[in-house]
Amino acid sequence: MTAYRVAQLLHEGKAKRVYGTDQDDLVAVEFKDDATAFNAQKKAQLAGKGALNCRISALIFEHLERCGVPTHYCGVDGSNWMLVRPVQVVPVEVVIRNVAAGSLCRQLPLAAGTALEPPLLDLYYKDDALGDPLLTEARLAMLGLLSADQRQQLERLARQINQHLLALFARCDLQLVDFKIELGFTRDGELVLADEISPDTCRLWDRAVQDSQDRILDKDRFRQDLGGVIDAYGEVLKRVQQHCPEPRVYG
Ligand code: TMP
Ligand code: ASP
Repeated sequence: MTAYRVAQLLHEGKAKRVYGTDQDDLVAVEFKDDATAFNAQKKAQLAGKGALNCRISALIFEHLERCGVPTHYCGVDGSNWMLVRPVQVVPVEVVIRNVAAGSLCRQLPLAAGTALEPPLLDLYYKDDALGDPLLTEARLAMLGLLSADQRQQLERLARQINQHLLALFARCDLQLVDFKIELGFTRDGELVLADEISPDTCRLWDRAVQDSQDRILDKDRFRQDLGGVIDAYGEVLKRVQQHCPEPRVYG
């Protein structure tokens, strides 16, 4: 690994800023303390959130890498910077649900907590202005976002990631209810996991707690005004750290 210099801002999202670097094959991601929900209608600054999500994502990316899952991850630097390979992100959010919760229970007659076997995989078109609408197979084909082969590859990878995450979080005494991932193509055309995996993008319930609110250790604490968001994210980090080695520092 070589030292790098952060260059121009390429993109600012709700929770991260993405910068180019002086190396052609390296991008720097800064995790922000901004919290948003309901398509950014609800906003707050939560001190420490960026560092927690950066560290949790790094541990999980490295774990998945050891499981053979290709990712964009290269390493971390400081508390809230992650170095990644540049990828063309597919504008599709892949959501896998192991247990019914959230929008699924608002849209279908399913009680929160219902086990979903096999896990439900939903694709959403990534576009804030359109409210990230659910994609049907026909809509996906119509938009021409992915070939049939690429879609199959994406879904296979997402389901593998789910199995690895279920196992890791179970060891942490956490129930992985559902999560969202984003994938992208590298310059070599390889499909890899991108973005982040953190309590912002997963629903995680403490298995040792029965109460339906107290068990929540993810962004639902912010969405539902339950308080204790940073403590919950800190608890997730503490548990994941017990089962994963320290992330590598880049440069
Ligand atoms: P949902 O139940 O609101 O559709 O969310 C499903 C999962 O996806 C949940 O773990 C939270 C995550 N998610 C995101 O990461 N970003 C989003 O914009 C949304 C709506 C959900
Ligand atoms: N990520 C979305 C937002 O920032 C929605 C959510 O996570 O609830 O608005």
